[in-house]
Amino acid sequence: MKQKLEDIKNSALQSIDCAQTLEQIEELKIQFLGRKSELNNIRKSVKDLSVEDRPIIGQMANTISNEISEKISQKLEDFNRKAINEKLEKEKIDITLPGTAIPYGTVHPLTSTINEIVEIFQGMGFSLTENKNSPEVETEHYNFDLLNFPPDHPAKDMQDTFYTTLAPNVVLRSQTSNSQVRTMEIQKPPIRIISPGRVYRSEAVSSRKNNLFHQVEGLIVDKDITFADLKGVLNEFTRIFFGQARPTKFRNSFFPFTEPSAEIDVQCIMCEGKGCRTCSGTGWLEILGAGMVDPNVLIGVGIDPEEYTGFAFGMGVERLAMLKYAINDIRLFFNNDVRFLKQF
Ligand code: DAH
Repeated sequence: MKQKLEDIKNSALQSIDCAQTLEQIEELKIQFLGRKSELNNIRKSVKDLSVEDRPIIGQMANTISNEISEKISQKLEDFNRKAINEKLEKEKIDITLPGTAIPYGTVHPLTSTINEIVEIFQGMGFSLTENKNSPEVETEHYNFDLLNFPPDHPAKDMQDTFYTTLAPNVVLRSQTSNSQVRTMEIQKPPIRIISPGRVYRSEAVSSRKNNLFHQVEGLIVDKDITFADLKGVLNEFTRIFFGQARPTKFRNSFFPFTEPSAEIDVQCIMCEGKGCRTCSGTGWLEILGAGMVDPNVLIGVGIDPEEYTGFAFGMGVERLAMLKYAINDIRLFFNNDVRFLKQF
């Protein structure tokens, strides 16, 4: 009987070892451990054995049954592991393959130009005015009246300024100069602010004009501010912005809110003053308007012009960007053509 059990055990373990498929294992399980298996028949006949043999054979049959079960589990586990490994091998990801490129955006040239201008003035001690001092939807009062525009000034005409239907006096601001008076109204000198933003004008769109564009406004009000300070600050600005000191020309001009007023030209960066298409043969490019804050403006916001003086300036961002990057059509900034935008 013992020999018989040994034989069953050996034959089972060997067969299981050789099994190749899950089905074969299932069959072997039935063959060696099933109800009709030899082992089971032996277990059933244990009760007929002698009292001495009964526990010995019984125990042996149990042990062998356990060993076979164990062997089957092990084999199943092997199969499983093999299947997983095969799957992993098949689904292997080649991480050395180049991925799908995700197209990324670039900073808009107007944004980077504004940032650059703001940084230059911050370096000279100016700080950004608060947004609330620089609204794009504005009343005539701040866009014109407090800036000393007479009531019949032609710029107030429907031709130049967009009037809204919100209320009779509400316009899309035509200049960032509104931020000057709004700042002075709530902040007392010393004032040294810079204020970039969008402005709107009712103009025929062309390669040089768009009815939405950007300006950067600057304002200093303090004791003993003179025209020499204005010249120093703006010359320093052009030097840094254009990358080298360039001759500038302060041309006499007129703005209602400054006295005296000037328009500042920089030597043409394309032809270095020789005269070309960009500068219409003059050798000079106008880059901004500026002047000493008119005493009437100071009085309008409650600042004593006997005690304080100041200067202001306003520059067109598109114009500066066009000069710096040799862009010949202002509309390129607004068409969102990626072939253009990608270059920045
Ligand atoms: N606001 C003027 C314009 O849009 C530009 C300007 C000129 C701004 C002189 C100033 C200034 O602050 O002092 O044409």
